[in-house]
Amino acid sequence: MRSIRVDEHVRLRDPVAADAPALFQLVEANRARLARWLPWVPQIRTVQDEIDWIASRNAPGASETELALLVVDRGTIVGGLGIGGLGHPARKGEIGYWIAAEAEGKGIVTRACRAALKYAFETRAMNRIQIRAAVDNRRSRAIPERLGFTFEGTERSGALVQGRYQDLAVYALLASEWKAMRSNEATKS
Ligand SMILES: CC(C)(COP(=O)(O)OP(=O)(O)OC[C@H]1O[C@@H](n2cnc3c(N)ncnc32)[C@H](O)[C@@H]1OP(=O)(O)O)[C@@H](O)C(=O)NCCC(=O)NCCS
Repeated sequence: MRSIRVDEHVRLRDPVAADAPALFQLVEANRARLARWLPWVPQIRTVQDEIDWIASRNAPGASETELALLVVDRGTIVGGLGIGGLGHPARKGEIGYWIAAEAEGKGIVTRACRAALKYAFETRAMNRIQIRAAVDNRRSRAIPERLGFTFEGTERSGALVQGRYQDLAVYALLASEWKAMRSNEATKS
């Protein structure tokens, strides 16, 4: 099982079938706040839907192009983080995320994204990682802004959520910028 260290307590790991009930409970408990921004939420109606989703994620070859990881804090699932586009010929990918209300506001997602960026740039040799968030999703936009991404513009009507089109703010970070940031950090410490 793939497991990416985020910090002392938090890691990103592949989902397994046994996670389905806990994952379903978490989505259920956060349904309204997640459904506002994430188009897949209405598709998860039962534990079986989670079992099917996990099976699809673990199908042969699936992780070559897209990782769907759980955010686990001290053994408890608190959210999800996906890295898509890993097989793209232009080496451009995308990160998406969500976290339970109880775990919000602690910097877990920012730190998890940093670990995912390290994986994408350094392990998978990606050249560009994008994060897109609805223009009025303030908490989500704050993450790429905190991580030094460049705001590139607005993808008009980029998502259809709860029957409405949402404009998406597009942010990206390039491998060269990641490298520069890492060597800056290394000089400071
Ligand atoms: C978007 C979402 C993932 C953001 O979660 P979050 O908890 O705000 O993000 P972080 O984990 O990075 O935490 C940032 C907060 O922790 C604080 N924080 C504490 N310690 C921190 C640290 N070490 N590093 C960074 N931030 C820290 C920050 O100040 C910030 O708080 P503030 O917003 O009150 O200023 C969450 O709101 C969510 O799941 N929303 C619903 C689903 C969704 O919108 N997904 C994204 C779709 S594009």
